[in-house]
Amino acid sequence: MRTAGSTTPADISRAVVVSFDRCESERLRRVMQSLVSHLHAFATEVELTQDEWEAGIRTLTETGHITDDRRQEFILWSDALGLSMLVDALENTGSQGATESTVLGPFYVPGADVREVGASIAEEPAGEPAWVHGYVRDVSGRPIAGAELDVWQNGDDRLYAVQNPDAPEHHLRGRFRTRDDGSYAFLAVRPVPYTIPDDGPVGRMLAATGRHPWRPAHIHMIVRAPGYRTVATHIFDAESEYLDSDAVFAVKPSLLRDFVRRSADDPERPAGVGGPWCSVENDLVLEESSRPGEPTDPGRTA
Ligand SMILES: [Fe+2]
Repeated sequence: MRTAGSTTPADISRAVVVSFDRCESERLRRVMQSLVSHLHAFATEVELTQDEWEAGIRTLTETGHITDDRRQEFILWSDALGLSMLVDALENTGSQGATESTVLGPFYVPGADVREVGASIAEEPAGEPAWVHGYVRDVSGRPIAGAELDVWQNGDDRLYAVQNPDAPEHHLRGRFRTRDDGSYAFLAVRPVPYTIPDDGPVGRMLAATGRHPWRPAHIHMIVRAPGYRTVATHIFDAESEYLDSDAVFAVKPSLLRDFVRRSADDPERPAGVGGPWCSVENDLVLEESSRPGEPTDPGRTA
């Protein structure tokens, strides 16, 4: 029989882990027991105080309150703590030379307009025009016709359309399909570095810990094609600031691209461009969605 006062921190942790023993889902049981074990180990290791945990609860509460259809503070936490990139790395092993993935980020809005090849995604002036072009191929080099590129980016005011109530709904985003030879092109603008939203709990954490909120300039892209693994990735401007200190740890060397400066009288100038512009060559490689002998869910089979 247990005597009063004998319950130790280890007793508490063990009791909570055991409470999940009868969970019918093996996967859920493993996740919950591991979560509790690591959460308790964390609190024990740092000797978490009552005041600190109350502050933690307030921060989580504020994170919920500030999150809505246009502001996603939970994704910001995941991004700023590197968890988004860790999960991405666990799921996408980057085999076979396929284009590497990176964070989705908090500004993706599904349902962008489908636009013609070569069309502009800027519905109002938003910076230096950038002609983005390339091919979508499989890992053997065969073109993938009809692949969808779902692109979004910020303008020279640093904002995504979803952050700016005055911007047209489909400004700086759009969906494109590759031609029969796998080629694609669209007119974007040269992206600029921006700060992740830093007026909420994540911003306070960054300031309190001496971290900056900047991300290097990039264009987001999700590439989809039937029979292939969907990839969410970026084109990073190879000349951008903050490539070595991205606030969300999303830079991969294979995703850096040169934004080549072009003059207004360049004969390859895209229609509707009147001044200086730049071009970006960006080929993409998709891997098939499943390969014989490959576990469908690597990393979760141990
Ligand atoms: Fe972004």
